[in-house]
Amino acid sequence: MTTANTNTNTETATIAVGGKSLQYPIITGSENEKGIDISKLRADTGCVTLDPGYVNTGACTSAVTFIDGDLGILRYRGIPIDQLAEHSTFTEVSYLLIYGKLPTRAQLDDFNYQLCHHSMIHEDMKRFYDGYPSTAHPMGILSAMVCSMSSYYPEALDPSNRTHLNDTIVRLLAKLPTIAALSHKKSRGQPFVYPDNSLSYSANLLQMFFAVPADKYKLDEDVARVLDLLLILHADHEQNCSTSTVRLVGSSQANLFACIAAGICALWGPLHGGANQEVMTMLELINQDGGNVDKYVAMAKDKKSSFRLMGFGHRVYKNFDPRAKIIKKACDTVLNKLGIRDPLLDIAKKLEERALSDSYFVDHKLYPNVDFYSGIIYKAIGIPNNMFTVMFALGRLPGWIAHWKEMTESGAPKIGRPRQIYTGATLQDYVPIANRT
Ligand code: ACO
Repeated sequence: MTTANTNTNTETATIAVGGKSLQYPIITGSENEKGIDISKLRADTGCVTLDPGYVNTGACTSAVTFIDGDLGILRYRGIPIDQLAEHSTFTEVSYLLIYGKLPTRAQLDDFNYQLCHHSMIHEDMKRFYDGYPSTAHPMGILSAMVCSMSSYYPEALDPSNRTHLNDTIVRLLAKLPTIAALSHKKSRGQPFVYPDNSLSYSANLLQMFFAVPADKYKLDEDVARVLDLLLILHADHEQNCSTSTVRLVGSSQANLFACIAAGICALWGPLHGGANQEVMTMLELINQDGGNVDKYVAMAKDKKSSFRLMGFGHRVYKNFDPRAKIIKKACDTVLNKLGIRDPLLDIAKKLEERALSDSYFVDHKLYPNVDFYSGIIYKAIGIPNNMFTVMFALGRLPGWIAHWKEMTESGAPKIGRPRQIYTGATLQDYVPIANRT
C-alpha cells in the first residue's frame, strides 16, 4: 500500500498568459495521477479556467476510491472491487469506505449491532407518507424524508460538532432501507413492515419490502446475497455527479442529512443513477417492438436522434466498467436460481453484443455500465422499476458519507463556488414598464 505523495513532487507546469509565463505545481497522487494546481491562477493572471462538465477538473484530493477508466480498475481504499464483491458484505464495505480501513471482527459486530438498533424511524415520520399521491416517485420521497430526518436530530445540524457524527452516520445507514421500504409499501397500499434486528442488512431490506402480515415471508439467502452484492458495487465511485453534489452542499457547512438529500436528487437524473430505470424502459420498448435490436443500435448512432443506449457509456470508463462484468454474471446466476426466463435479458445481451461489434461504439469507447444489467436483477427479485434508483441510492450512501466526512475533516474546506465567463448584456439602464416595447 502506498500513500499519497502529493507534496513531494517538484515538477511544474508553465502557463503563459498575457505575456507572462507562470509556473504551477504538479500534484501527483498515489497512483501517479497528475493534476496542475491552478489555485493561484486567477490571482496571478486574472483568468479562470473554463471546463464545462468538469471533464478536466479535479475538485479535491481524495483517498477514498481509485478508478483507472482505461484499465477498468475500481478500488475502494485500495482494495479491488472484485475482491470486495467476492468476500465482503455491504456493511463491511460501508465501514471500510467511511472509516478508511477494514473493521476488526469486534468493530464489525459493533457496527452491525448499531445498524440493527437504529433501523426504526420516528413513528411521526410514517405520517409523512400519507401526504404523497400513490404515483409519487420514490426518489422524491427518499430525498424529502432524509432531509426531514434533520428535524429529529437537531444535534446533527452543526457539522463542526463531531460528538454525534457516528450516531448520524449510523442513523442514515440504518434508516434509509426502512424509508425506502415504507415508500414501496405505501405505493402498494400494503401495511408497513418494521425492521427485524435478527436479519442481515440486505435480508432485512427484502423482508421490509416483501413481507405481508397474512403470509410468512420466506427469505431466500441467495437473493439477499445478490442484493448485498449490488449494494457493494454501487457503494462509491469517487467524484461522480451525486458525490460532487454532496461535497458541494457540504462545503457550505450544511448538515449531513441535507447533503445526502441533495445527493439523492442528483442521482435521480437519467444520465446518472436514473439510468437503471431508463434501461428497463428501453429494453421493454425494444421487446414490444419485436426485439429489433439493430433498429435501436442505429438510432443510438444517428446524430439526428436524441436516443441513446441507456446503460452504455461512462465519463471515466473507456474500456469496460468492472462493475458491469460482475453484475452480468450475477444476473445469469440469480435468474437461473429463481428459474426466471426474462426476454429482456436476452435483448440486453443481444444489444451488448451488437453494440460492441459496431465501430461507432468501439470508436466512442462505449461499454455497458453498472446500470445495464442491474435492473434485470432488481426486476427478478420483485423490485419495481421506479424503485431501481432508490436501490442505487441505498448502495451509494456510504460513499457519499465517506466523501462528506473526508471533506469536513480536511482542515477548513473552502466553500465550493465555481466562477463563470459572463456572456450576458453589458451595462444598460432600467426602463420603466410604460416605456418598454
Ligand atoms: N449511446 C449513444 N451514443 C453515446 C452514448 C450512448 N449511451 N453515450 C455517449 N455517446 C456518444 C455521444 O453522442 C458523443 O458522441 P460524439 O462525440 O460523436 O458527439 C460521445 O459518445 C461522448 O458522449 P458524451 O455525452 O460527451 O460523454 P459524457 O462523458 O459526457 O457522458 C454519459 C457520459 C452521460 C454516461 C453518456 O455516456 C450517456 O448519456 N450514457 C447513457 C446514460 C447512462 O447510462 N448513464 C449512466 C452512467 S453510469 C452512472 O452514472 C451510474
